[in-house]
Amino acid sequence: MASECLPGLRILFIGDVVGGIGRRTLHALLPALRERHGITFTVVNGENSAGGVGITPKIAREFLAAGVDVITLGNHTYHQREIYPYLDEEPRILRPVNFLRSQPGHGFTVVERDGVRLGVLNISTNLYMDLALPMFAEADAALYAMREKTDHILVDVHGEATSEKIGLGWHLDGRVTAVVGTHTHVPTNDFRVLPGGTAYITDVGMTGPRGGVLGVVKELAIQSMQTRMPARFVTSEVDPWLNGVVIETGSEPHRAAAITPVLEPAPASVTGR
Ligand SMILES: [Fe+2]
Ligand SMILES: [Fe+2]
Repeated sequence: MASECLPGLRILFIGDVVGGIGRRTLHALLPALRERHGITFTVVNGENSAGGVGITPKIAREFLAAGVDVITLGNHTYHQREIYPYLDEEPRILRPVNFLRSQPGHGFTVVERDGVRLGVLNISTNLYMDLALPMFAEADAALYAMREKTDHILVDVHGEATSEKIGLGWHLDGRVTAVVGTHTHVPTNDFRVLPGGTAYITDVGMTGPRGGVLGVVKELAIQSMQTRMPARFVTSEVDPWLNGVVIETGSEPHRAAAITPVLEPAPASVTGR
């Protein structure tokens, strides 16, 4: 596509889907969300979708069948062993690009619709996370490989420290369409288009039970924090919400025009209320 006349299109990015309740919430809300916002591409972080930790091939296939274009992951990528070969076989599921080359999977992909090519990059921060290769250098290397093959690029930066995510947003401003944070499961209110034209949010939040602690049954999480003893974490089913953002792309390549949060409670068909 000629680089000066890109049509504005909308990308829906959905934060960490947690357990069966998060999956049911996603599947219940996705068709109407895509229609309401005129969505061209849908990207979902699925790192907690299998019982709260990891993802299975069956769950990933269900997401893709529901119209999800790319699935991103994070520090829980390898919790379910059955996903390992699938990560190598399926181009539309990503693990952080800065994991070791020897670990299964890949960190970026390009999908195309209506003549527009969207690159998606998944990367992990370094502070307080599983060991990963240095984020800034690995992001630059990945973008070097992606840039000419794409009209737009969305980066899912998966990490704990707000400072590193904000730093990456500034580092990539004007070079990618969007930098969206995941992992903390708590949506931040700092969504904006940076001066160079990159849409940014520190954390999109999660698609899961707001009535728990980051997705875990609240009594179990509190007990563990109170007693400082390990507890078996079970996914809460209380008050599920979908958390995401819609990114409107600009007319120039690798630029955004707007970013808007999407925070929606699950419908009665999911909650039984
Ligand atoms: Fe995570
Ligand atoms: Fe997560």
